[in-house]
Amino acid sequence: MNTTTADAPLLSLLARCDRPGPRYTSYPTAPHFRTDFGLEELKAEIAACTTGASRPLSLYVHVPFCSSPCFYCGCTRIITRDRSRGERYVGQLLSEARMAAALLRRGRPVEQFHIGGGTPNFLGLSSLAHLVQGLGELFEFSATPDRDYSIELDPRALGSPAEAFATELARLGFNRVSIGVQDFDPQVQAAINRVQSEEETLSLVDACRDAGIASVNLDLIYGLPRQSLAGFQHTLRTVISARPDRIAIYGYAHMPALFKAQRQLDATTLPDSRTRLSLLALAIEELESFGYRHIGMDHFALPDDELVRAQENHGLQRNFMGYTTHAGADLLGLGVSAISRIGDSYSQNHRALADWERAVEAGQLPLWRGLRLTRDDRIRAAVIEQLMCHGRIDIRDLESEYAIRFGDYFANSSPALSAYAQEGLLRMGPDSIAVTDAGRLLLRNIAMCFDGYVNEGAGATAPMSRTV
Ligand SMILES: C[S@@+](CC[C@H](N)C(=O)[O-])C[C@H]1O[C@@H](n2cnc3c(N)ncnc32)[C@H](O)[C@@H]1O
Ligand code: SF4
Repeated sequence: MNTTTADAPLLSLLARCDRPGPRYTSYPTAPHFRTDFGLEELKAEIAACTTGASRPLSLYVHVPFCSSPCFYCGCTRIITRDRSRGERYVGQLLSEARMAAALLRRGRPVEQFHIGGGTPNFLGLSSLAHLVQGLGELFEFSATPDRDYSIELDPRALGSPAEAFATELARLGFNRVSIGVQDFDPQVQAAINRVQSEEETLSLVDACRDAGIASVNLDLIYGLPRQSLAGFQHTLRTVISARPDRIAIYGYAHMPALFKAQRQLDATTLPDSRTRLSLLALAIEELESFGYRHIGMDHFALPDDELVRAQENHGLQRNFMGYTTHAGADLLGLGVSAISRIGDSYSQNHRALADWERAVEAGQLPLWRGLRLTRDDRIRAAVIEQLMCHGRIDIRDLESEYAIRFGDYFANSSPALSAYAQEGLLRMGPDSIAVTDAGRLLLRNIAMCFDGYVNEGAGATAPMSRTV
C-alpha cells in the first residue's frame, strides 16, 4: 500500500471504520469467559476429550514482573525492583504445574513452550534454569529441531552480559527469542518511559545468533505518542538491518481505563487515525520492499520462515501467543492471568497475583473463569481464524465441515459484509470471501461481522482497543 496523498480517500475510509474491537486471540474473547466454569468443568472437559489424550501440548508460562513501567503497556505486569520475588514465583509456578500435570495424561510431547510477560528475564539465569528444569521433570520436553521454545526478552533487564545470557538460554533448550523494541526515536522513548539504545538491542540479537538460537523476533508498535513517519522509518531500517526472522508490528492499544500507566501519557501527543494508518502503511511498504512477507494481521517474516510456509499451505493458526504452526496441540497456561485452551474449552487463571498465590498455596489450581465452546462458537471461531490467518474464508470447506449453508447461517452478517465489499475491502464470491489489500488493515472489523457476542453481555462493555 502506498502512503502518498493519492491514498487520501482510502485513508479517510479506513479512519471512518476506526472503532473499538477485539483482537481475536481467541473466540469467544476473554471478557465472555464465565466464573461458573471452574475446576470440575475443566476436569470434565479433559475426561470427555479422550481423543485428545495423547495430543501434543503447548505450554505457556506468564512471568508478570518488570523493573520499570513502560507507559504504553497493556500487559499483565507488576512493577518491582525486588528480584527475590522471581524465585518465590518460580516455586509457586512449579506447584501449579505439578497440579496441572496430574490432570493430564503423561507423555504428551511439548511441541511449543513460551515464556511471556511481563519480563521473563526479570527472573535471572538461575531462576530461569530452575523453572525450565522443574517443568522438564513434569512434562515431556522435546529436543528435536522442530520444537518451538521461545522466551520474551527486554534487553534493558538482562542482569548479565548478553553473550552469557544467550548462551544459557540455548543450553536450556530455547531456539527462539522475541525482543521488545517498540521505537528507537529518542522523543518517543522519552514519552513512553522506555529508553533503550539501538546498540544494546542489536548486540542482544547478535548474541542470540552466536549462541545458536535459530529464530529472532523483534516487536515494534505504531501509534505511540510523538511518533513520526521519519522517526519510524529510521526505526524500521535499523530493525531490518539486523535481519530478524520475524517482526511484529502491533497497533498501540490505548485503554487508560484498564491500564493505569497509560494515564501518564500525554494523550494530545498520540497520532490520529490517519497518521496511525500512514505509520502502518509505511511499515508494510518498508518490510515488503526488504523481502519480508506479511503474515496475518500484525506479523512479518522472512520467506523461509515456517510461518510463511504455514500460511502458504493453510496450517497457520492464531492463539494467545500470536500466530503459530502448532495446530493440533492443547494449550496449557501457567502463572498469573494465563489462559489455557484444552479440548473445546478456555480457562483462565486469576488475574490478581494475590488471588493466584492464595489458590496455589492452598493446593488448588488457580482457575478464575472459562467456558466450553458451543457448536455455534466453534463455527464462528473457524471463520474468524480463517480471516485472521489467511485473509480469506473458504465457504465450501466450512459448509462441508460443519454441515451448514453458509449464506443462511450468516444471513445476519450479510449487510455489513456487502457494505465492506462495496467499499472495496472484500471480494465476495460463491465459494469464498477474500479480503483485499486495503481490507487487510481492517481485519478486526471484518471479523466482527461474524462475532455472535459483539453486542452481548460483559464482553460488550469491556474496554477494547481501536481497530485502526
Ligand atoms: C510482554 S511484552 C514483551 C517483553 C518485554 N516485557 C518487553 O517489553 O521488552 C510483549 C509486547 O507487547 C507489546 N505491547 C505491550 N503493550 C502494548 C499496547 N498497549 N499496545 C500494543 N502493543 C503492546 C509490545 O510490543 C511488547 O514488546
Ligand atoms: S512493555 Fe514489557 S517491560 Fe514494559 S512494562 Fe510492559 S511488560 Fe514490562
